Amino acid sequence: MKGIRKVTDGIYWIGGSDRRLERFENIFPIPEGVSYNSYFIDDEKTAVFDTADISVADQYLENLGEALSGKKLDYLVVLHMEPDHCSQIANVAALFPEVTVVGSKQTFTFMEQFFPEAAGFKRLEVKEGDTLSTGKHTFKFVAAPMVHWPEVLFAYDEASKALLSADAFGTFGALDGGLFADEYDFEKDFLPSARRYYANIVGKYGVQVQAVLKKAAGLDIGMILPLHGPVWRKDLAWFLDKYNKWSTYEFESDDAIVVYGSLYGHTASAAEAVAASLRSKSGGNVRVYDVSGTDVSYLIGEVWRCRKIVLICPTYNNGIYTPMENFLSDMAALGVQNRVFALGQNGTWAPVTVKLMTDKLSQLKNVTILEETLTIKSALHASDENALNIFADAIVKA
Ligand code: FEO
Repeated sequence: MKGIRKVTDGIYWIGGSDRRLERFENIFPIPEGVSYNSYFIDDEKTAVFDTADISVADQYLENLGEALSGKKLDYLVVLHMEPDHCSQIANVAALFPEVTVVGSKQTFTFMEQFFPEAAGFKRLEVKEGDTLSTGKHTFKFVAAPMVHWPEVLFAYDEASKALLSADAFGTFGALDGGLFADEYDFEKDFLPSARRYYANIVGKYGVQVQAVLKKAAGLDIGMILPLHGPVWRKDLAWFLDKYNKWSTYEFESDDAIVVYGSLYGHTASAAEAVAASLRSKSGGNVRVYDVSGTDVSYLIGEVWRCRKIVLICPTYNNGIYTPMENFLSDMAALGVQNRVFALGQNGTWAPVTVKLMTDKLSQLKNVTILEETLTIKSALHASDENALNIFADAIVKA
């Protein structure tokens, strides 16, 4: 039972943590690692909810074997068909040929695309409101389309009051010997990773998250069992409130971030001067980021946290400095809303970046782009002090 943790009576965690993967989805750096959670139901009928990523397959299959202790596996329930959770479906079906695979209609469409042999699996197709009883536990399925794939299901067990929530309420971050959020200092150990995970992976689908949160509000939830990160059994309202804020694009903090692009350091100096002015005028917290040296997923996480976003960069090939353009495109792709933007630019001969950034940001919903902007020529000088003051004042007042 070395890789297994008891969640509650009859429910066990049999997943694994990966600390070797450099980038989640081959995009997002995860120096903190990631866990792939799978849940085993030890009841009159046995069931397993989701498998795991191929990187932890050996541990996962060993855990499953230990959990079964010689019993047969009756059900493999697939709440989400993304390969970080479904990689072992064919292996589990091969090990337990009598298993009934449970999922939505679209689950099976995707399953046959990934595993053509799934056409021969014993299957049970379920939809919103259907139930699966294993004996003491009865799981009711809740459709969660586009959170963040279309086939996603949640499952709610009245006996344990557990909500198995697929990717929702998940986070980057390997489990360091714990399982429950209350075994960690979650705000310190996981919150930035949870926010970055939400914003980058699920952030575009706020409307769909809101829809499923409304459905979940009708359930008496005592535990949340996500597919990544710790299980929630205490302070659920605190994390639900975060999800509510994130999915309605409400900021968590009135803090400002200053994100700059700089070829040789002159724009960086201007950005630092803006940050210093903002701190002294507002007394608030300000974070400064180099857009070239900060992976965009961290910047997106900060955009979800903060209300005010200051962008300063040079004109480059008559366009926006490329890393900044990438950041702006990512914000547009993820549907960022309800933020205040302040724009600055540096140009040695023909600065046009503020206009170009304004054009891009104007495509976002419900955003304010301050009329007051900052333009420096090549480098910040004492003669720019008044303009910098006016720019910082406008940001503080916004
Ligand atoms: Fe963790 Fe959408 O897979």
